[in-house]
Amino acid sequence: MDKASSTPVENLYVHVPFCARKCSYCAFFSEALSGELVDRYVSNVVRELEIVAPDLRPRTIFFGGGTPSLLSLRQWEQILASMERLNLNGAAEWTVECNPATVSLDKARLLRSYGVNRVSMGVQSLNPELLDRLGRIHSREMVFRSFDVLREAGFTNLNLDLMFAIPGQTIEMWRDTLKEALAMGSEHVSCYEVIYEEDTALYEQLRAGEFAVDEALACDMYDELLERASAAGLQQYDVANFARDNASTPRATTLDPPSYACRHNINYWRGGSFYGLGPSATGYVRGVRTKNWSNTQLYCEQLEKGRRPVESSEKLSALARAGETAAFGLRMVAGWPFKEFQLTTGHDLPEEWADDIAECQQRGWGRTAPDRFHLTSEGLRFADAAASLFLR
Ligand SMILES: C[S@@+](CC[C@H](N)C(=O)[O-])C[C@H]1O[C@@H](n2cnc3c(N)ncnc32)[C@H](O)[C@@H]1O
Ligand code: SF4
Repeated sequence: MDKASSTPVENLYVHVPFCARKCSYCAFFSEALSGELVDRYVSNVVRELEIVAPDLRPRTIFFGGGTPSLLSLRQWEQILASMERLNLNGAAEWTVECNPATVSLDKARLLRSYGVNRVSMGVQSLNPELLDRLGRIHSREMVFRSFDVLREAGFTNLNLDLMFAIPGQTIEMWRDTLKEALAMGSEHVSCYEVIYEEDTALYEQLRAGEFAVDEALACDMYDELLERASAAGLQQYDVANFARDNASTPRATTLDPPSYACRHNINYWRGGSFYGLGPSATGYVRGVRTKNWSNTQLYCEQLEKGRRPVESSEKLSALARAGETAAFGLRMVAGWPFKEFQLTTGHDLPEEWADDIAECQQRGWGRTAPDRFHLTSEGLRFADAAASLFLR
């Protein structure tokens, strides 16, 4: 066994596939809460943790969904105690996604007591009409209340998810949400432009001509976001992500991520390995990408038979993987330091992607520095198109 294959994986994603109600824009795999199935899921996710535990020493953990905060105190206790028994606790960054309607002080304290140290809260908007339009189950007041509860429980690293270019959202509505959300003083903010995903209510409404997409307005909203986030002391480190920097750990360059940047996501963008557990989760371990069954019953059945609930796995060629890694990493403001790219992929970015780098530069999307290639602020706006040039 070579060294890389004997080193335990350091990043873990766990998918919790339940929501109280489906939001109108969301295509993440989740289903309605039903008591029995949730208990069965909890027992089986523990089984899945047991299978991978010998090959796992987590530095980052992310429980996403779905709505992880929907699990009851008892169900959380079962998962957290199992993780302790399996020696999986103690990650430097451990995030749990929460919906503002399902945060309680008891739950927050329980998570904190086992070492969860970051909560990502889905806010989307602070405008009551838009919350309704998006099918959110919480009010704006619940956002403020849950934020205070999380602080009271001792969380000092909180993220708020916001969305813009929501149908019916005016620039004034976006300004108001940004102003109020930034005033809450979270350490991290993620802001996503609405994506019209197939099989969502919003997509159907768009197709039926109930509203039109206004690209110019979306661009104005993004500009407003960049300006206000920066004025609030948050530093952009990826297309959609902004974080505070406590400045106690000096950074090599101001392009590098600030101290409250999400390390778990950075590992994805940098092409690192991670285990993905739970229904529909993807993982990437030693060059092999896996995808679990997107069906909670089937997921449970597999584990109950003692099998890993993997629906498919594929090993990409080194070049295809390097192309993907280049594309993902360019989402970051830091771009790709050439040495780091070489170490991660074994490929030479400035040489093998010379034409794509030149193309980006010519369009005003990219800039080459002595040690790296990175997108400009214009390029970050078109990050998906820029990144796709690098795929192989
Ligand atoms: C998997 S959700 C988890 C958050 C949690 N379930 C909640 O909604 O409170 C993660 C985030 O992705 C974003 N998101 C989901 N679907 C999206 C879409 N179609 N377009 C843009 N952003 C989306 C939302 O901001 C959401 O908070
Ligand atoms: S946005 Fe969050 S709460 Fe809404 S359906 Fe998706 S995962 Fe569930």
